Amino acid sequence: MSTDKNIEELERRKRESELGGGEARIQRQHTEGKLTARERIALLFDPGSFQELDQLVVHRNTDFGMEKQRVPGDGVVTGYGTVHGRLVFAFAQDFTVFGGSLSETHAAKIVKIMDLAMKDGAPMIGLNDSGGARIQEGVVSLGGYADIFLRNTLASGVIPQISAVMGPCAGGAVYSPALTDFILMVKKTSYMFVTGPDVIQTVTHEEVTKEKLGGADTHNQISGVAHFAAESDEDCLATIRELVSFIPSNNLEDPPRAASSDSINRIDAQLDTFIPESPNQPYEIRGLIKEIADDSHFLEVHQHFARNLVVGFIRLNGYSIGVVANQPAFLAGVLDINASRKGARFVRFCDAFNIPLLVLEDVPGFLPGTDQEYGGIIVHGAKLLYALAEATVPKITLITRKAYGGAYCVMNSKHIRADMNFAYPTAEIAVMGAEGAVSILYRGDEDKQEKIDEYREKFANPYIAAERGYIDEIIEPRFTRRKLITAFAMSRNKRDKNPPKKHGNIPL
Ligand code: HXC
Repeated sequence: MSTDKNIEELERRKRESELGGGEARIQRQHTEGKLTARERIALLFDPGSFQELDQLVVHRNTDFGMEKQRVPGDGVVTGYGTVHGRLVFAFAQDFTVFGGSLSETHAAKIVKIMDLAMKDGAPMIGLNDSGGARIQEGVVSLGGYADIFLRNTLASGVIPQISAVMGPCAGGAVYSPALTDFILMVKKTSYMFVTGPDVIQTVTHEEVTKEKLGGADTHNQISGVAHFAAESDEDCLATIRELVSFIPSNNLEDPPRAASSDSINRIDAQLDTFIPESPNQPYEIRGLIKEIADDSHFLEVHQHFARNLVVGFIRLNGYSIGVVANQPAFLAGVLDINASRKGARFVRFCDAFNIPLLVLEDVPGFLPGTDQEYGGIIVHGAKLLYALAEATVPKITLITRKAYGGAYCVMNSKHIRADMNFAYPTAEIAVMGAEGAVSILYRGDEDKQEKIDEYREKFANPYIAAERGYIDEIIEPRFTRRKLITAFAMSRNKRDKNPPKKHGNIPL
């Protein structure tokens, strides 16, 4: 063959791969409001940076007439490129080829880039759109899934792993996203479940749609399986890019620092009246988070789940910070099972990846009730406590108002190794609220008001804690940003270690 012919042959093979399952199936993908695997890859990576691997891989199956149906690439696009100039590995399942189903070779392609991502210390991103195990292949497909699950597990805490669910993701296939750090789902076009509506109807006689069972709203609001609900494929891919901008490439690196023109000395007089005078009046904690953050920018994680706790990323003086904040505007910011699970998982991600933590505290305690006790609030609440106590990244707390009871200890108190504990003059650090305390201490008394006033006078303030040194400084709210930036700068080179062990035993 002449050189021209050689190149023509290569191009023909590549075109065949790029056409995937053909025009009709691409059209169907578009009609359903979904982009193709390659279109998604193009939006995920910096323009022109993506390098595809294994484009010509084909499956080896000869059962069920499969030897006559071979599409180069075998239903998944894999490779590497840059996101905001940094190396990232990704796979995108191609639903137009055998429904994006996972064969032995499809799995081997994913495994190859996972191994590279681990060796090269770069984030791994999976774009899932698949009918699950390649039915024609049987157990070799299941083996392929298990090979991926093992790598997800070993990579956990070493490189960030992000999963987008952009179509079906069912059966055991859900466990790869579940093992990763963040799951994004696209509204209306994605769903995740272990068993689908038909099986559920047979087994439990429940009738449920795919959307209600495992759509983006369900997993963002009810189960908490997903961390982001995107409006469209484009929105989903833009959110992944933004998320990557906040996190380091691996556990041995610090997160990238971003330029900001927001002054570190910015003083905000409005904050002095931000916390309502009445301890029972709600306020929106995200207002405070945005006021403190560089350029008011806050990437909220798990926005629709356990809204009594707010978590997400901001930058302070250009440095990434993970924020964990009680939300007085929802259930008074109480800690319950879901809020504890949400907070613990976020804290562990930040600690694993060297992202300092800011805890904003206004918490009346743990939610009472049989639902919570039967559901195991003891063990779930302990997750948040464990995660914060175990974390060795810089940890700063600001008590804005209530810090009551066990929740005071849990929410990054000095006693569990917080580096700097601030309080506003409005802080109330006590075993419980004044009414609750007096009703226990003076159960029989008719007129309790005097005692309530006395208890409030004595404990509804930050001064006793400050006298003990449990609070390092009581600050005027207007100086919050500057104080936090200065404290994080102080602890930037912090060195702290946990005792040597194989691994701890977090109360799962
Ligand atoms: C092979 C598959 C496939 C699969 C879909 N296709 N799923 N091929 N293996 N698992 C093919 C279809 O034959 C079809 O081919 C094309 O992909 C598109 O599928 P449609 O059914 O036309 O699409 P749609 O109507 O959108 O329905 C999507 C779907 C459905 C809900 C995902 O295809 C489906 O139910 N598939 C089977 C799902 C399943 O049971 N998977 C195994 C689960 S067990 P043509 O040629 O017509 O375009 C599992 C275990 C994993 O995954 C365990 C890990 C531990």
